[in-house]
Amino acid sequence: MAEILPEELALEAACRLLEAGELVAIPTETVYGLAADATNGDAVARIFEVKGRPRFNPLIAHVADRKMAERIAIFSPLAARLADSFWPGPLTLVLPQGEGSSVHPLVTAGLDTVAVRCPKGFGRALTAQLGRPVAAPSANLSGRITPTTAEAVNASIGERIRLVVDGGPALVGVESTIVKVAGDSLVLLRPGGVASSEVEKVAGLALQREVKGVEAPGMLSSHYAPDAQMRLDIDTVEDGEALLAFGPNRAGNAQKAVMMLNLSPKGDLREAAANLFSYLSTLDATGATTIAVEPVPRQGLGEAINDRLSRAAAPRDTLRGKD
Ligand code: TXA
Ligand code: MG
Repeated sequence: MAEILPEELALEAACRLLEAGELVAIPTETVYGLAADATNGDAVARIFEVKGRPRFNPLIAHVADRKMAERIAIFSPLAARLADSFWPGPLTLVLPQGEGSSVHPLVTAGLDTVAVRCPKGFGRALTAQLGRPVAAPSANLSGRITPTTAEAVNASIGERIRLVVDGGPALVGVESTIVKVAGDSLVLLRPGGVASSEVEKVAGLALQREVKGVEAPGMLSSHYAPDAQMRLDIDTVEDGEALLAFGPNRAGNAQKAVMMLNLSPKGDLREAAANLFSYLSTLDATGATTIAVEPVPRQGLGEAINDRLSRAAAPRDTLRGKD
């Protein structure tokens, strides 16, 4: 297992490992990330190796601020406005890559765009200390549940890395919202920790939602997969099922469930997002054949929650886009 260090004590050690081309699992406000120096091709390649990713999906380059982001990406006035409104925070912008970008082509999978995000907390401090962008996908084995605690990271990839930095349970609990800035239009590539309505308010325009080819890998494929089957939007619990509940009202036969966890008894979508992945893995660990999920409203963060639930429920026979 990897060493677990609390974030207050880990900055120097984490930075030294990144400088040496090694990987470190780090807390961000969304989920835990598996970090590498984004300019070091060998280190970035190890990310794919450790996660067992079936293919080289592009990664997010984490930056300390807009100044660092401008060394690798071209900001239109619209992109700058979004960054200034939401950074540090759970918004990733896909932008044209800048001429002098030092980000290794493995990070962008050879695309002429780059995904940039300025995280809150330790991830940002580490990037500032390193002085270079940090590539970091979620710190789980490919296709498995995204970790929101240091313990979950250690259980997933702890045998394959040396250090997990512990920042406590991730505050947001789902990954960042990804928006591609293409000229004057914005395309939502992944719903996430910032509600799309908030982005639309700041941008003063509607997000396009069409999904084209490789632009949003994993959008339709099996993802975040627990071992159990998933049954969504249920109104009645069947024999042998574990129940992922939401809100004050229970599904029929809820008392039959082998285990029940409520994402948010008071029906708060933020609380539900923060609990989502850890509750899924706790219910999965019961060995139940199926996790039944009560309906979760689709507005605000509910869009990201429903997106992750339907990916967890998708057929498991496809490798496309897993991460
Ligand atoms: O909250 C998050 O975003 C977390 C934390 C660790 O920062 N990171 C994360 O990374 O979720 P990952 O690798 O699991 O997801 C990154 C997504 C992938 O779906 C990838 O395809 C997309 O970003 N992406 C990266 N670069 C892209 C690009 N140039 N164009 C389109 N999509 C891109
Ligand atoms: Mg992921």
